[in-house]
Amino acid sequence: MSDDNSLCFIQITDPHLRKEADGTLLGMNTRSSLDAVLQLIQANHPNPDVVLASGDVAQDGSIEAYRCFQDQVGFFDAPIYWLSGNHDNREAMTTVVGEGASLDKVARIGSWQFIFLDSLVDGRVYGHLAESELTLLDNTLSERPDLHAIVCFHHHPIDIGSEWLDNIGLKNRDQLLAVIDKHENVRSLIWGHIHQEIDQYRNDVRLLATPSTCVQFLPSSKDFAIDRLAPGYRWLTLNSDGSIETGVERADHIDFNIDYSSKGY
Ligand SMILES: [Fe+2]
Repeated sequence: MSDDNSLCFIQITDPHLRKEADGTLLGMNTRSSLDAVLQLIQANHPNPDVVLASGDVAQDGSIEAYRCFQDQVGFFDAPIYWLSGNHDNREAMTTVVGEGASLDKVARIGSWQFIFLDSLVDGRVYGHLAESELTLLDNTLSERPDLHAIVCFHHHPIDIGSEWLDNIGLKNRDQLLAVIDKHENVRSLIWGHIHQEIDQYRNDVRLLATPSTCVQFLPSSKDFAIDRLAPGYRWLTLNSDGSIETGVERADHIDFNIDYSSKGY
């Protein structure tokens, strides 16, 4: 059960916006689908304490796409943390990120701390955490062992039983997990990239992946395949005792066009 000091954490991921207002991913208008998801958040979780945008904010890395995202999420009365995905452009993100949003790597609120890592490798689809990111993680966890921690990044740190996606995950996952295993205050790892939901445990650490705000990928598929599930987001209730309640909500009420014949994205 949530307590009086619990925090509401919202994750939106993989919006894949383009500079064109009618830009699509696999046939879906990504501005419209993000808008539908944001309306759902406003209805279900109108007062989050923190919002995470966990990468692939833009499909094309354009300034215009980041400006659009900044405008679309501008209604949140909560800090919004952006981190990079493989489709993102760090320079353009840094140029655009503005009021209410941040590329900061650490946030501390109440009895929780959030660490936002950058797994983008320029020009690659797979991910890798630089030594500097791993050191920052290790130091941040060591600094405040009294705070429950959530570690966020873009690429998946475990195999998910989908060959094409497992080839483009986090390459140095062993290094990440070795740091996580050194500390007892990590409650959850959260990522995007795979456009599907995961909720499982590794030791006592909850592993959470979240649907995209646009097109979803079919779980357990050897080759690229699109799922028919609707765009969505994840909510988390973070209790002061370190326990987590979480779920995924989807914009099931909207009809979207999807090109199911696509062979890749
Ligand atoms: Fe993505």
